[in-house]
Amino acid sequence: MTTVIKNGTIVTADLTYKADVLVENGKITEIGPDLQGDETLDATGCYVMPGGIDPHTHLEMPFMGTYSTDDFESGTRAALSGGTTMVVDFALPAPGQGLRDALQMWHNKSGRANCDYSYHMAITWWGEQVFNEMKDVVQDEGITTFKHFMAYKGALMVNDDEMYASFQRCAELGALPLVHAENGDVVAELQAKLVAAGNNGPEAHAYSRPPQVEGEATNRAIMIADMAGVPLYVVHTSCEDSHEAIRRARMAGKRVWGEPLIQHLTLDESEYFNADWDHAARRVMSPPFRNKQHQDSLWAGLQSGSLSVVATDHCAFTTDQKRYGVGDFTKIPNGTGGLEDRMPMLWTYGVATGRLTMNEFVAVTSTNIAKILNCYPKKGAVLVGADADLVVWDPEKEKTISAAHQQSAIDYNVFEGKHVKGLPRYTLTRGQVAVKDGAVQTQEGHGEFVRREPVNPVNKALSTWKELTAPRKVERSGIPASGV
Ligand code: URP
Ligand code: ZN
Ligand code: ZN
Repeated sequence: MTTVIKNGTIVTADLTYKADVLVENGKITEIGPDLQGDETLDATGCYVMPGGIDPHTHLEMPFMGTYSTDDFESGTRAALSGGTTMVVDFALPAPGQGLRDALQMWHNKSGRANCDYSYHMAITWWGEQVFNEMKDVVQDEGITTFKHFMAYKGALMVNDDEMYASFQRCAELGALPLVHAENGDVVAELQAKLVAAGNNGPEAHAYSRPPQVEGEATNRAIMIADMAGVPLYVVHTSCEDSHEAIRRARMAGKRVWGEPLIQHLTLDESEYFNADWDHAARRVMSPPFRNKQHQDSLWAGLQSGSLSVVATDHCAFTTDQKRYGVGDFTKIPNGTGGLEDRMPMLWTYGVATGRLTMNEFVAVTSTNIAKILNCYPKKGAVLVGADADLVVWDPEKEKTISAAHQQSAIDYNVFEGKHVKGLPRYTLTRGQVAVKDGAVQTQEGHGEFVRREPVNPVNKALSTWKELTAPRKVERSGIPASGV
């Protein structure tokens, strides 16, 4: 069966033009005028764009004594409803658990996905098994990105020596390291101090994670990556302090990418000072929301190209889960939702305001990350041969965001009450119409794992664990006489 998208304007990261798109067997087979198919989707007045790719989600993630509530079914349904057709989640090994083992657990969960997905593998501890399995994960499993948490001390955090070793391993495998850049030691100190002073409400979460902890860690990660000879991707860049480090690195020719979230672009720190505990706690995430100056910096980064990708870090907890932290803000599960709202919110606050062009919108929601993750042009493109992951975007369609009508399984929405203009008329996942005139008709289990290949692996035999960890002795011809 063929499907034709008729009378629309194709918008890609670099072109805007009128043409029909023909889809067969999940792929784009023809682009041009006057195409015919078995099924016709009318795109009059709409833009036909690559479906969004959200490279930062935590679906059914075990974290802070609970599991994030949106799983691969509700999470990817929410994604498709908002025009996102691929997510990249994080496989998180428990302390001492092997990478392949953790990966199997994530494959078990993702069988319910409604759209395509990939994973980043987290490095949560360091040892010979992790070193060895990194190669298997890249070469056998098609996962070429490794996440490092510089925060969450005593849980997910890795230290600099572990990070440096892992970055070196990434360099030789042609893999890309990712960092959650916050100084976890300083955060832990600040948390303890605030709790001891009786400052235990959700607003203290923001005090415990000032922009400096993010700026410091971003600088450190960039320098460690430079010493290891590897590019770097900085997730959830929330402030000027971190953005400045990324901008400076890029100006110096380093390959560093920064990823602001739609939450940090559109919501600010005043949310934490709401008199309603639930309201504030529902917005607790790391890094926290920042002030308007930091927001302006993030928008400027997207406009100038120093920041590359807009993600969500979708990690949705119910109000009941958030209440684990009543009386102690350090126990509030960290995370917010956004999968369903990223594209409409960025269109409304980015394109409709004139901050971003439509082509820039496509670049930062889809094409840039497809290139960074090495799955372009299978994903992130409107080209013959690409997967038919497409969104037919109606710039006139509007709604007021409300938890009452969302796909996400949680009981609130951090964007509640925001009015958005620009929504999908249709969303196609590998050719299958998942959203039709706003009605969601997803198919559980339709999603497939997207395998990715490494980029520029070092062209020599890989080092062994012994070589990487052995101290090297310098052979000297003579030893000077001792001093005074
Ligand atoms: O608060 C957040 N961001 N929760 C999800 C885990 C992470 O740090 O990305
Ligand atoms: Zn993080
Ligand atoms: Zn995250």
